[in-house]
Amino acid sequence: MKTGILKETEDPRVALLPESVLSLKKSGVEVMMEQGAGTGAFFPDEAYREAGAALVGRDTIMQEADLIIQINPLSDREFRELRKEAVVITMLNPLVRTDIVQKVRDLGLTVFSLDMIPRISRAQAMDVLSSMATIAGYKAVLDAAGHLPRFFPMFMSAAGTIKPAKVLVLGAGVAGLQAIAIARKLGAVVEVFDVRSEVKEQVQSLGGKFIEVEGAREDAAAGGYAVEQTKEFEEKQRQLIFNHVSGSDVVITTAQIPGKKAPLLVTKQAVEAMPHGSIIVDLAASSGGNCELTQNGKIIQHNQVTIIGESNYPATMPSDASRMLARNLMNFLNLLITEEGTLKLDFEDEIVRGTCVTHQKEIINERVKSFID
Ligand code: NAI
Repeated sequence: MKTGILKETEDPRVALLPESVLSLKKSGVEVMMEQGAGTGAFFPDEAYREAGAALVGRDTIMQEADLIIQINPLSDREFRELRKEAVVITMLNPLVRTDIVQKVRDLGLTVFSLDMIPRISRAQAMDVLSSMATIAGYKAVLDAAGHLPRFFPMFMSAAGTIKPAKVLVLGAGVAGLQAIAIARKLGAVVEVFDVRSEVKEQVQSLGGKFIEVEGAREDAAAGGYAVEQTKEFEEKQRQLIFNHVSGSDVVITTAQIPGKKAPLLVTKQAVEAMPHGSIIVDLAASSGGNCELTQNGKIIQHNQVTIIGESNYPATMPSDASRMLARNLMNFLNLLITEEGTLKLDFEDEIVRGTCVTHQKEIINERVKSFID
């Protein structure tokens, strides 16, 4: 079996490392790397060649590979030109990009989307979304600290005492918990909101103060994700959040409901009540933002508050982002590659079935199917 790793367009990350190539070669898999695929993440062509990969042009991979891997989806034209037997592994964001799902289904392509790996314990080591969210939570705090015109930690110096910064984290999932940990390490006082009461203990164990809003809808069947809230709850929550936002130096928002627009938690009015010089980092920028004023991919100022809408923090740390991606991906590939080094799609396996978006002109993942039919 031939695997081909494409160079990402407009993203410095790469899906596999030289060490992954070595291990695939040991399993009898041939690996083709597009020239320069790892350069943006500081893994040179030479390292891949030494590990046993063939360095080739993009066209060769498109024409010859049985398994094609690119983190960002291929272009429409590339999907159309692919051989129908080729299997693609990518991140389609299929609950939102239903247009691409329909296209690849109609083309009869087999596409796996790593962002659909089920959040179950057996799949933890394959969970690329958690890996990327960990980076986002970490970088959000560093970015906020870089923009904040104040210290994070408390300081006692000859010039007197400086109070620690107050950080408010909205949403304590993977990114939020990481943000809490890093903000605490930098010495900030951290408050946290989440609609899932199960995260309270985790927040407290990281040194954050959990603020409860009663009446949230929770669903254990949502697999560690939140569900949509009632209008009444949202209003009550926004009011309570307002009181805390207005006293915070930094607000990091991470609230999401998969496949839906991000919940609006921080209103324009709340931003206007924040101290001048304070910072909002809105990690949900690409899905509409948790703050009313966020602009995706931009840093803006409103009433002397900086609102950061960076939507690809992982690309700002391409080496470790690629390392994490590659390890997650290799764990997933173990489910698809036999001991003889051939490709075997076992749709009886919950992880394989859950990650597969389209196969033989059908939508395989049940949630994606329910979003389209
Ligand atoms: P997650 O699903 O693990 O965590 C989201 C948390 O928000 C959950 O704990 C959920 O209960 C909570 N939440 C949902 N609705 C809420 C509400 N109304 N009020 C308070 N909490 C609420 O998601 P994860 O993996 O931590 O990702 C967080 C966000 O970061 C997502 O929007 C994701 O797309 C984004 N992200 C951004 C990146 C960037 O570079 N900007 C990179 C990676 C992820």
